[in-house]
Amino acid sequence: MSNEATQTTPSSAATISLAGAKPLADVPPRLFGSFVEHLGRCVYGGIYEPDHPTADENGFRQDVLDLVKELGVTCVRYPGGNFVSNYNWEDGTGPRDQRPVRRDLAWHCTETNQMGIDDFYRWSQKSGTEIMLAVNMGTRGLKAALEELEYVNGTAGTELADRRVRNGIEEPMDVKMWCIGNEMDGPWQVGHMSPDEYAAAVDRVAHAMKLAESGLELVACGSSNAHMPTFGEWERKVLTKAYKNLDFVSAHAYYMDHGHRTHDAVELQDFLASSEDMTYFITTVAAQADAAKAANHGDKDIALSFDEWGVWYSDAWNEQEEAWKQESANGLHHGAWPVAPHLLEDIYTAADAVVEGSLMITLLKHCDRVRSASRAQLVNVIAPIMAEPNGGPAWRQTIFYPFAEAAAHARGDVFVPTVASPTVATKSYGEVAAIEAVVTWDAAARRGLLLAVNRDLGAAHDVTVSLDGLAGAGDVTVTRAQMLHSDNPYLQNTAEDPDAVTPGELTVSAVDAGTLRFAMPAVSWAAVEFTA
Ligand code: AHR
Repeated sequence: MSNEATQTTPSSAATISLAGAKPLADVPPRLFGSFVEHLGRCVYGGIYEPDHPTADENGFRQDVLDLVKELGVTCVRYPGGNFVSNYNWEDGTGPRDQRPVRRDLAWHCTETNQMGIDDFYRWSQKSGTEIMLAVNMGTRGLKAALEELEYVNGTAGTELADRRVRNGIEEPMDVKMWCIGNEMDGPWQVGHMSPDEYAAAVDRVAHAMKLAESGLELVACGSSNAHMPTFGEWERKVLTKAYKNLDFVSAHAYYMDHGHRTHDAVELQDFLASSEDMTYFITTVAAQADAAKAANHGDKDIALSFDEWGVWYSDAWNEQEEAWKQESANGLHHGAWPVAPHLLEDIYTAADAVVEGSLMITLLKHCDRVRSASRAQLVNVIAPIMAEPNGGPAWRQTIFYPFAEAAAHARGDVFVPTVASPTVATKSYGEVAAIEAVVTWDAAARRGLLLAVNRDLGAAHDVTVSLDGLAGAGDVTVTRAQMLHSDNPYLQNTAEDPDAVTPGELTVSAVDAGTLRFAMPAVSWAAVEFTA
């Protein structure tokens, strides 16, 4: 690394205590959601590849489906993302050979429409996941949203519900969660809007959708990140205007190590502390939601749907977009746009897995307000699962493991422990705690999970965990303990070496009945499953 300040120093101690801790909220199953967008090879060559040796009768890759199940994804947002803002949902329905081929303005690709809502419904049945649908508020709006709702959820006997039946899906799809547009504050978005324009539009669409079906859970677009010029103002205006018809406001945040090309240690340390930004984002949006509730004299809380989160090395994409702009400066461009090209295929490091582990801890620590989340995305595109083309295998990225552990074992209630930790200096967030942690406890099954990260690039830390405050926990027995760490934080899993970074066994010693101790090397993630 290019900075001497990162020399590993001897370990110092941190304590994680549940003394006096009260349950924050139940773990919402939808916290373990994901996102499938028509982007690059997420759909085509990802979940759908009819020529692949593992493809089933629908063209769905079984090797990918197996990893989706192993990842433990509960709910999948579809079909975009930026893609949705120029999408006609009807294009992806009916016989495949009659579906139109169109231009996708968001990603400069050619969309074949060989996958659409009917196919995705079948895929969701196979993967055992709930669907969360996004509607086009860019080039369309109220009418198309209502028609899509009738097609998807309607009882047979009306024109659009009958069309679905003719297309082979007899039962209503029962999609409850609907995102009303995507990132409509972003100047990159087709049909982007001002806060006032979107507030009026989402209010009208949400109102009409709830006239059609009162049990829907509707998500308004929030800010595309916590650094948008209208961050805060957007949420205040949108939520105040449309409070009565909304259930969720979305939040999106991607993080990257800005020094990844030069291995700059100051940047890597900053990146390791990314959950500070996510915390700020959540608390600010929750405050705006509360203000909107007060302004409306309301009695319900608007929850957060953190429906795009993760690590994304967006510099590569930004450079590609810039190159296109330069090209089009030379005159009109009539070349064909590619079908399902390799786009946003980030290959993740050990440090990326630790950051994603800390983001998951942050979501759990705020799950009283964050009741739904979608890690973006699922396959090939900034994804935990990679699917090799030309009959190749599917494999797990480093970031697969922290998500899968939480999805499989975070059950019951969330407890936010008191953490006394050494601190580490960061460029953007000042001094931050090196150790972050959360505990879940399923009182009925008497099973618990401790998740922890050491965000310190330069030092290992001994961690002592006191679970005594966990109501009725009694004597604690560790059933499984894992650690993800590499002495090289830049080490990646690759197609050639897909198991370069995997969790290994963590040695945990029991100090007394409710106290555990273990060591966390610099840049590490740990999970301790226990019974009591
Ligand atoms: O996930 C990639 C893109 O990131 C999505 O299409 C968009 O919503 C966000 O900007």
